[in-house]
Amino acid sequence: MSRDSRDVPAERVDVLVIGSGVAGLSVALGAAGRRVCVVTPQQLGFDGSSMLAQGGIAAAMGEDDSPGRHAGDTLAAGAGRCDPTQVARLTAAAPATVEWLAGLGCPLDRFEDGRLSLGLEAAHSRARIVHAGGDRSGALLMAALVQAIGKQESVSVRAGWRAVAPLLSASGVTGARVRARDGSLRDIHAGATVLATGGLTALFECYTGSPQADGGGHCFASEAGAALSDLEFVQFHPTAFAGAGSPSGAMPLLTEALRGAGARLRRRDGSLLFGLDDGEGGDLGPRDRVARAVHEASRSGGAFLDLRGGLAGRLAQSFPTAAALCRQQGIDPARELVPVSPAAHYHMGGITVDAAASTSVPGLYAVGEVACTGVHGANRLASNSLLEGLAFGRDLGQRLAASERLSPAVGGRFKVGAPVADMLAPDVHQRLGACLWRAVGPVRDAGGLLAGLAELEQLAFQVGDAPAAMARIRLAEVLLQAALRRTDSVGAHWRSDVNGAEAVPVLHAA
Ligand code: SIN
Repeated sequence: MSRDSRDVPAERVDVLVIGSGVAGLSVALGAAGRRVCVVTPQQLGFDGSSMLAQGGIAAAMGEDDSPGRHAGDTLAAGAGRCDPTQVARLTAAAPATVEWLAGLGCPLDRFEDGRLSLGLEAAHSRARIVHAGGDRSGALLMAALVQAIGKQESVSVRAGWRAVAPLLSASGVTGARVRARDGSLRDIHAGATVLATGGLTALFECYTGSPQADGGGHCFASEAGAALSDLEFVQFHPTAFAGAGSPSGAMPLLTEALRGAGARLRRRDGSLLFGLDDGEGGDLGPRDRVARAVHEASRSGGAFLDLRGGLAGRLAQSFPTAAALCRQQGIDPARELVPVSPAAHYHMGGITVDAAASTSVPGLYAVGEVACTGVHGANRLASNSLLEGLAFGRDLGQRLAASERLSPAVGGRFKVGAPVADMLAPDVHQRLGACLWRAVGPVRDAGGLLAGLAELEQLAFQVGDAPAAMARIRLAEVLLQAALRRTDSVGAHWRSDVNGAEAVPVLHAA
């Protein structure tokens, strides 16, 4: 923590939004009218995981559906670990959130008569997934939000800027020190500082989504003294496209909606992974169960998605992203099976927030995947994450817009935290990723977790005092410790070594 700030140029805004996925932009739109600054590490509209989302927005808008039924499915998927009040709030807000998006001009998929075309995804008891452009939902949604942001004069966007450290005063967080595109440092003081930085799955060796979801927001919050919770609950998607890594290291996703439309999972010998009616949803069963089956199959010969039959014929039209991926990989989906493997996809845990998106530190808020609101419990229901970012982000923005307390003193006394949210060196990232995948991948046990903790200790010794690397290593340690302490298998946290009773040693208190 340093006090040296006089030589760093400073500015003041009402609301500082760090991150520009659907959650961050929804906060900014909700708060428009106040002076809002959005800081995003690369390019507006292309940063973060939202624009890659192929699934859509879950909303009870079908004739035979209701928010209560949507809430029931969310609670069941969350394996008894959801906050029912937050779930009720989210599912009730879903239809209005979809209407808001339609009003912003987002081209939602509809039938010719104008009714929304609602898709089915795993563990939903009704078809209720609203898409845009088939499997291009995230990209089209982001385009609509970016366009809406462009019309707001009170919202400024700093693209290519990265928030590296919190500014701290006696009253809590009062903004962030940021690294501008040219490498220079600035202080942005704000009445409210909102973290919308995405999750931490990019810390894993195998992951889908954005490389920017590397836990930087969690480290920023921890540096400010904010609490984290449910870190052990990491969701693994069963069908990342195996062998098709992108230059960023992320694996492209083959959306669950493909299975909703009839695709089947097979082993290398062609046998099906699941019977059509195995009593637990078969190929469309809970994501953790399907991910473990794919994990098992991919370690013994390979797992594959079968798109043959009627589906391949309409792939280009209904699933353009999947069709393009097959083309790029030289696979003819009408004749060949597509190799898949699980990958870290979403983090249910994160920065602890209350229903007002407030963290445990005044002035600091968190929305979207970086936040742990309790809506997802131990296992997120598909397509509830874009919904959460949009609905809770907009709600927070609107409440900040109406707040009378957004007036940080400029020139008051403050300290600057360590630059913990800065970029991670590639070699550290790679070693951390391999360690996390081995220790806290889809299947965990005490031996692997203890070995992982020892490996992290060694890595910490090697990186010395590099703040960003140390902060990510400490974050990984807390995650592993949480997984070690949770000796039952629940939701996405699967312990192969215990059935819930046996105690295991804990090396450090979290
Ligand atoms: C998918 O399209 O399979 C992912 C949807 C989600 O994670 O919500």
